[in-house]
Amino acid sequence: MPVPGPGYSITIRLEAAPSASAAGELASAVGRVGGVLTAFDVVESHSDRIVVDITCNALSANHAQDIQDALVALPGVRVRKVSDRTFLMHLGGKIEVNSKVALRNRDDLSRAYTPGVARVCQAIAANPEDARRLTIKRNTVAVVTDGSAVLGLGNIGPAAALPVMEGKAALFKKFAGVDAWPVVLDTQDTEEIIRAVELIAPGYGGINLEDIAAPRCFEIEARLREKLDIPVFHDDQHGTAIVVVAALRNALRVVGKDIADCRIVVCGVGAAGSAIIRLLLKQQPGDVVAVDIGGVVHGGRDDLDPNRQWIAANTNKQGLTGDLHKALVGADVFIGVSAPNLFGADQVATMAERSIVFALANPDPEIDPLEAQKHAAVVATGRSDYPNQINNVLAFPGVFRGLLDAHAHRITDDMLVAAANAIADVVDTEKLNASFIVPSVFDPHVASAVAEAVRAAAVREA
Ligand SMILES: NC(=O)c1ccc[n+]([C@@H]2O[C@H](COP(=O)([O-])OP(=O)(O)OC[C@H]3O[C@@H](n4cnc5c(N)ncnc54)[C@H](O)[C@@H]3O)[C@@H](O)[C@H]2O)c1
Repeated sequence: MPVPGPGYSITIRLEAAPSASAAGELASAVGRVGGVLTAFDVVESHSDRIVVDITCNALSANHAQDIQDALVALPGVRVRKVSDRTFLMHLGGKIEVNSKVALRNRDDLSRAYTPGVARVCQAIAANPEDARRLTIKRNTVAVVTDGSAVLGLGNIGPAAALPVMEGKAALFKKFAGVDAWPVVLDTQDTEEIIRAVELIAPGYGGINLEDIAAPRCFEIEARLREKLDIPVFHDDQHGTAIVVVAALRNALRVVGKDIADCRIVVCGVGAAGSAIIRLLLKQQPGDVVAVDIGGVVHGGRDDLDPNRQWIAANTNKQGLTGDLHKALVGADVFIGVSAPNLFGADQVATMAERSIVFALANPDPEIDPLEAQKHAAVVATGRSDYPNQINNVLAFPGVFRGLLDAHAHRITDDMLVAAANAIADVVDTEKLNASFIVPSVFDPHVASAVAEAVRAAAVREA
């Protein structure tokens, strides 16, 4: 059941009588309608009234209105203003550019800008690789989207995607010191996207593709990887795959199984599912069975695009056919990156002993995690309100930190595997259990461990 969280947090400024019981009555009114009070601040005090800011978490816009109505219904209470704290946080955007150099006088100006800067330009013209030493290219990543598959919101376009890209840039900086900049493109044409990224690439040390719909995202990434001399990484694919593989490694330690003996059902063969399957296959699993909206993916289907044809050819050794429920019978692991509410506890009961269920569809998973826990030994979701959150932020900041530090020209599967192993290894044996298979996103060791693993892999390959 959803609980009120900070994603829907409001501050209500109201006037009330200055009685001894005022605070208690206001707090009770919020609680009665299911709001969660997080702060109570008296901002003005007069002999006849107090002005209070009540901050609370709600479930939705309607629920926020219910809270407001409950407060107004109290005798002597008058609401002055309601602020949505999430919108307040977004006023004017979430990131900005800061100068790293002081510009105090003519001397500073002459070196940071003209005439001094001209010699630096000439040095780069003579030796283009110097751009990585003498410009922002050394530490800057473009976060590129066409706005076609944003969160669970679908095709909302480039401007509406910008708050997500800004958030991503803020996470890059916070967790790995990477300067990332959003690039939202007003096109959803594959060729135009490729050309646009190609044209801006000289100023960046890496390209993070984001929220671009499948199957277009596969071609865009593959073609850019061929064309550019900087790493191109579609986070919805590979960030997810890295964290899933890390989490699975630790979940298998918890249940005492070897991946070589496991049949893994992956439901969803879009951006995330395809990349998960490709990275899983590098771990030599017993078998992988892919399932999409048309059922089990197998060579006999005539509706497969090139991506799913490849998957059909490289998975499903036993030639299974049928639907998800059938695929789950006897499976050791379920990984869902598909759609909400596809099965229940009864289907988990048909899986192998000590099964693992990763139900990652957002915001509503393939199975209610509480149902899954009835029979599965380890359960993970993409949600922050349950244990074992599979969150890409465990991967992408450290991945790009490592790539930039290595001056990498490309990214390879071995680097993705190195990143996954590094995340898994942050959870040492003393901490590992069924409710703790991945580290916290705030664990300061994660990004540096991932960065070092990716840097070392990149240096080895170079
Ligand atoms: N870290 C995370 O938790 C994380 C990361 C990435 C994606 N996701 C979630 O995974 C889901 C898929 O993301 P995506 O970017 O790959 O989307 P996508 O649109 O590229 O792919 C969706 C896939 O799900 C399949 N599908 C849809 N309905 C289905 C059904 N009823 N039964 C079986 N398969 C079905 C489709 O056939 C398709 O293969 C989303 O809910 C997304 O939020 C979570």
